[in-house]
Amino acid sequence: MPSSLSFALFFSLLSLLFSFISSSNSTTSTIPLSLFNTKHPSQDLYEKLTHLASISLARANYIKKSQDSPVSTTPLYPQSYGGYSITLSFGTPPQKIPFIMDTGSSFVWFPCTTRYLCTNCSVSSATSQSIPTFIPKSSSSARVVGCLNPKCGWIHSNNPKSRCQDCESPTNCKQVCPPYIILYGSGSTGGLALVDTLDLSNKKVPNFLVGCSLFSSKQPAGIAGLGRGLASLPNQLGVKKFSYCLVSHKFDDTGKSSNLVLDFNASGEKTAGLSYTPLLKNPVVSEKNALSVYYYVSLRKITVGGKKVKIPYKYLTPDSNGNGGSIVDSGTTFTFMNRGVFEPVLDAFVKQVKGIPRSESIEIITGLKPCFNISRQETVSLPELKFHFKGGAEMTLPIANYFSFAGEIDVICLTMVTDSAFGPELSTGPSIILGNFQMQNYLVEFDLKNEKFGFKQQMCK
Ligand SMILES: *[C@@H]1O[C@H](CO)[C@@H](O)[C@H](O)[C@H]1NC(C)=O
Ligand SMILES: *[C@@H]1O[C@H](CO)[C@@H](O)[C@H](O)[C@H]1NC(C)=O
Ligand SMILES: *[C@@H]1O[C@H](CO)[C@@H](O)[C@H](O)[C@H]1NC(C)=O
Ligand SMILES: *[C@@H]1O[C@H](CO)[C@@H](O)[C@H](O)[C@H]1NC(C)=O
Repeated sequence: MPSSLSFALFFSLLSLLFSFISSSNSTTSTIPLSLFNTKHPSQDLYEKLTHLASISLARANYIKKSQDSPVSTTPLYPQSYGGYSITLSFGTPPQKIPFIMDTGSSFVWFPCTTRYLCTNCSVSSATSQSIPTFIPKSSSSARVVGCLNPKCGWIHSNNPKSRCQDCESPTNCKQVCPPYIILYGSGSTGGLALVDTLDLSNKKVPNFLVGCSLFSSKQPAGIAGLGRGLASLPNQLGVKKFSYCLVSHKFDDTGKSSNLVLDFNASGEKTAGLSYTPLLKNPVVSEKNALSVYYYVSLRKITVGGKKVKIPYKYLTPDSNGNGGSIVDSGTTFTFMNRGVFEPVLDAFVKQVKGIPRSESIEIITGLKPCFNISRQETVSLPELKFHFKGGAEMTLPIANYFSFAGEIDVICLTMVTDSAFGPELSTGPSIILGNFQMQNYLVEFDLKNEKFGFKQQMCK
């Protein structure tokens, strides 16, 4: 058995850390990044894998069906996470609140008020009381956002007439910004828009727009959206470049974390050792706002064991309706591929993994495939998986980033998901969603100034 396989063996997630924001100098802010706790005490490895497969699929379904609508919606997970969290300090004096780091959405919100209500929020037996909650009354700088405030237009219609219908006149408007409701798969969150000071320790950012959620369902922590939308963390801060390195999901409660680095003064120079591909916007963003927040990259080719997988072109590039193409999403755990992409990848693995029986029973239970029963194998050699991007950047994934043990150590499964084999293929939205499991131990950089996506394999501390 290749030793790298054991990386995936102790697949357990770190508990949520409440670390201080550590910082560097006037041009960058460094924020510790840790694995979000999804640990249910009773859950074994095999249940976890099944759970992560199902939440990855639910998220993909949501991203793919996202539509423009009057309520602000953002793709989220239906239950808990295989995600990463950061802690940010808001208010005067600062209150520290953990957030899920999410490049697939663009709103920053936290559980808020002493009366915050969280229903069906199963995060390691947490009740609403143990969820870290922002208390606006304890912050002298917190303000409710007025309806005419342009920031209200970031989350509602940007036309004041349509969002502020209770306003008497543009000069005499006492209406507050209407409540937001964010709907996702099977849950929701809602509340009021606030502005308060975001305290990055080396930098205080006044009047940061943040959602003060009064209730949530199935959503135990706030979300820090890092997407392309106006209200996202990088956009509100004027960040030119951000980067993170995702520590391996294998870490148990060692307190291990890595960093999210916000760079306010990117020169445009390349970071040594990184391979770059252009960051793209969905070409029809103007009509389909829902797709505008995502970071698209041009995945040109996938090779398995050095052989090119035949993928129909329509999946690799967004069409005239904006459907198709690939996005990078830190909030997705297992990479999603449309059936038309996944099937040829699956075939390539099945063809090249010779003499090892598949375990259909585990495939059915986990929803992952292929799964191989390696109990009789002295050594296992698995084909290399490589993503080839526009501009020549290549991502050769370490085995632990695409195979994981399922339950006992005699079965391994490919950790990527596709839509159900029944019913029509989901043709809307991106065809490929590159998830965080595949990016473990990669330093990834979103260079917003130069619209470049860079990556490099490295051990994340
Ligand atoms: C600030 O810190 C970052 C990260 O430690 C470093 O890359 C950058 O060069 C520093 N900038 C200045 C102006 O010292
Ligand atoms: C919580 O979940 C249970 C079971 O899924 C469901 O029956 C119940 O209606 C949910 N409660 C709320 C308030 O959403
Ligand atoms: C930011 O970058 C500009 C141009 O590269 C440089 O002139 C300026 O000194 C930098 N500011 C800081 C604080 O490093
Ligand atoms: C794997 O194969 C071994 C030997 O053939 C068998 O005993 C075991 O039940 C199989 N495990 C699974 C999960 O299919």
